[in-house]
Amino acid sequence: MPVAIADALQLTIDEGGRVCVLTGAGISAESGIPTFRGTHDSLWSRFDPMRLATAEAWREDPALVWGWYRWRMQLVRDAQPNAGHRALADLAERIPLSLVTQNVDDLHERAGSVVDAHVHGSLFALRCFACGCAHEGVLDDYVDGARRVEPMRCVSCGDRIRPGVVWFGEALPDDAWDAATDAATHCTLMLVVGTSGLVYPAAGLPAVARRQGAIVIEINPEPTALSADADHVWRATAAVALPLLAR
Ligand code: APR
Repeated sequence: MPVAIADALQLTIDEGGRVCVLTGAGISAESGIPTFRGTHDSLWSRFDPMRLATAEAWREDPALVWGWYRWRMQLVRDAQPNAGHRALADLAERIPLSLVTQNVDDLHERAGSVVDAHVHGSLFALRCFACGCAHEGVLDDYVDGARRVEPMRCVSCGDRIRPGVVWFGEALPDDAWDAATDAATHCTLMLVVGTSGLVYPAAGLPAVARRQGAIVIEINPEPTALSADADHVWRATAAVALPLLAR
């Protein structure tokens, strides 16, 4: 473990500071959940986001979009949190820590973390596409490998039920974004774990932290758009680095 990173964390603890963790798809990679970019099996190298992750795509072919999200939900249901998720939950027991994630899976929660902000929403937070009312229905409509699944219908207005994720071109949920910027503004150290740093405004959170004097540490096996501005980078995976950090 890089000494400078251990020292930076120790200094924050000694000074009674606060850690903000920003996670991306990379933290779920070792749970078997595909990332969006960077490898041959990343989602955007296999699927076209403009045909699956936009409101226009939903209007055009809701069964195709819903089928894709049901497949992703099934992947998450079948996956387990990894040592990286668990290390963050453990760390939060011992030091003041805010967790902001771009991920729409529930692996942080299933590892025991309280997530302060899901800035891109949550796969399982279903709501009506038209009237927005939450849908608590049981998900039993998925046959493995089905490409098209007809979405469920809203009990109050009859329109289709959509996944509670932020699609390209949609605004981030106000409460999540406010919590995320608050966490970035009031931390003394930010850990940026498993994100390519390409999608704004979430990718701007490390700059928010740095502008108010926080130390920014990137944990990622690959260089990213955020690496140049990080105070320290740790070229390691989340499931290897975070348990070492927690110890
Ligand atoms: N541990 C840590 N980082 C990893 C690991 C791992 N085991 N495996 C891959 N990574 C890194 C990759 O190097 C890459 O930098 O995780 C990052 C994944 O980047 P993306 O796939 O772009 O995911 P993310 O940054 O979360 O995407 C942001 O884009 O499509 C939208 O809404 C979607 O929230 C998503 C947003």
